[in-house]
Amino acid sequence: MRWFLVSAVLLSITSARVFAQSSTADTYFAAESPIAKAGLLANIGASGSKSQGAKPGIVIASPSNSNPDYLFTWTRDSALVFQAIIDQFTLGLDITLRPQIDNYVASQKVIQQVSNPSGTISSGGLGEPKFNIDETAFTGAWGRPQRDGPALRANALITWANFLLTQSNSSYVTGTLWPIIKLDLDYVASNWNQTGFDLWEEVSSSSFFTTAVQHRALRQGAALATAIGQTSVVSGYTTQAANALCFLQSYWNSAGSMTANTGGGRSGKDANTVLTSIHTFDADSGCDAVTFQPCSDKALANLFTYVNAFRIYAINSGIAANQGLATGRYPEDSYQGGNPWYLTTLAVAEQLYDALIVWRKEGTLSVTSVSQPFFANLVPGIAVGTYASSTATFTAITTAVKDYADSFVAVVAKYTPSGGGLAEQYSRSNGSPTSAVDLTWSYAALLTAFGARNGVVSASWGAKGLTVPATCQRSGGGGGSGTVTASFNVQATTVFGENIYLTGSVDALVNWSPDNALLLSADSYPIWRITVNLPASTSIQYKYIRKFNGAVTWESDPNRQFTTPSSGTFTLNDSWR
Ligand SMILES: *[C@@H]1O[C@H](CO)[C@@H](O)[C@H](O)[C@H]1NC(C)=O
Ligand SMILES: *[C@@H]1O[C@H](CO)[C@@H](O)[C@H](O)[C@H]1NC(C)=O
Ligand SMILES: *[C@@H]1O[C@H](CO)[C@@H](O)[C@H](O)[C@H]1NC(C)=O
Repeated sequence: MRWFLVSAVLLSITSARVFAQSSTADTYFAAESPIAKAGLLANIGASGSKSQGAKPGIVIASPSNSNPDYLFTWTRDSALVFQAIIDQFTLGLDITLRPQIDNYVASQKVIQQVSNPSGTISSGGLGEPKFNIDETAFTGAWGRPQRDGPALRANALITWANFLLTQSNSSYVTGTLWPIIKLDLDYVASNWNQTGFDLWEEVSSSSFFTTAVQHRALRQGAALATAIGQTSVVSGYTTQAANALCFLQSYWNSAGSMTANTGGGRSGKDANTVLTSIHTFDADSGCDAVTFQPCSDKALANLFTYVNAFRIYAINSGIAANQGLATGRYPEDSYQGGNPWYLTTLAVAEQLYDALIVWRKEGTLSVTSVSQPFFANLVPGIAVGTYASSTATFTAITTAVKDYADSFVAVVAKYTPSGGGLAEQYSRSNGSPTSAVDLTWSYAALLTAFGARNGVVSASWGAKGLTVPATCQRSGGGGGSGTVTASFNVQATTVFGENIYLTGSVDALVNWSPDNALLLSADSYPIWRITVNLPASTSIQYKYIRKFNGAVTWESDPNRQFTTPSSGTFTLNDSWR
């Protein structure tokens, strides 16, 4: 029924090409969403058909166990998958999912406490990116820590908690959920201003996606704490939320897009930014650019820049400027051949569907000088201005944006194999599926894009009306801008010609760079010494390294960690390990 209705309306106002695209998206979503739902549930233990060995509530990233081996559970992927599941349950779209949510809660309560190479529960272990599917620690080398995971898990569980409060189930919220959520929020509040690996696990620096989801977690965490009377944490979370929001603005660059990571030496054009927009969407906050809402001028300008970076793929050649492309993580990507991903292409469509939800809800739409190039690509000659829903221009723009969004879905549809399985990637040269099969995140991305196209709106997280502090602080209480003097002493025996160096998580410790690591003095051998000025009241991680004949040897994991005092001097006495 809906297929005919939507198609008929669009056909009457635009071209036959739109008819084709809209009906492709309709047909594809109708067929693919049950497949995606089943594919997602198959990857959740203990009963999922493709996740044997996973404990209840554990999300495997993919059943693929070689080239690549994704038979692990990532905190990030799991939280995004369960955010989608919790949204479906709490919005009444699928009331069968409650046992899955209960299992997820129980599994995360266990995983949080598992000591791992990033540390213990009290020394940074929450930053560990992935675990074995039997809930034991993964001890191999990896890009760690990753600081988006605890924030995303808190976001999913806060959505769940807020729903249960409306069901008068506050005893479960306070007794079971809050202790889990609080551990994650405390970690975010203490560590948001530390570097870590980005969501693609490659670049250690600050990352737009990470900062944005941390900001959301602290903001809605403070609101939940207030609602359940946990008042002692409210001001700390609120202060750090404001600090993170302030820092978030700095990712916007002079070329008119977001630079995804502060490090990494790339163009900065990255699906990281589009994923941020859809995973911090709050329909109540309109087109606010402070939180880079999907319909904000900054997020749309950024989307235009991001999409066009993928014309380099052969399967995109000859596609018109106003039509969807196959998009990947970032144009410099070479992982598994550096291909488009299903979840990143779907994220473009979802951002645009989210934008349409808000424009229609508000009955108005603004084209600013920042977003004009995005709009002019779809509606040539469009002028800067505000267009009410009663105008023909509003109709022309929203029709063109819907068409554009559907054209990205049409790309995904074109390269979905018969059977409907969604891998991680599809080939840049011929579109055939590649890398891990049945990626759980691909299925979740399909379901949330479909929901957004149908006007499904997740609960507000409090993004409305936020203001950015005039000056950016690192921590609360005013002491954050000072420095303290730290003396590092490490006992280490060395051979002639071998030297000991220091590097760590802050600028003063050269941000984990082995090349630029600070040389210690051997004047008191076998104690090696250095004195450094460090930011006050800051959680810092570090390691010593050895260099000998050009070879670098790191201390064993986990990273050493401490918090600097608010003022004064102090000494760390270590032994090489
Ligand atoms: C509260 O929610 C939990 C988690 O789903 C459930 O086990 C419990 O039965 C609920 N309690 C009430 C009173 O509804
Ligand atoms: C910490 O916050 C300050 C102030 O916003 C910012 O200049 C700095 O780059 C941040 N560092 C990290 C690693 O987030
Ligand atoms: C390190 O040793 C010095 C004496 O050499 C001592 O004053 C200081 O308290 C020690 N620091 C720690 C953290 O144990």
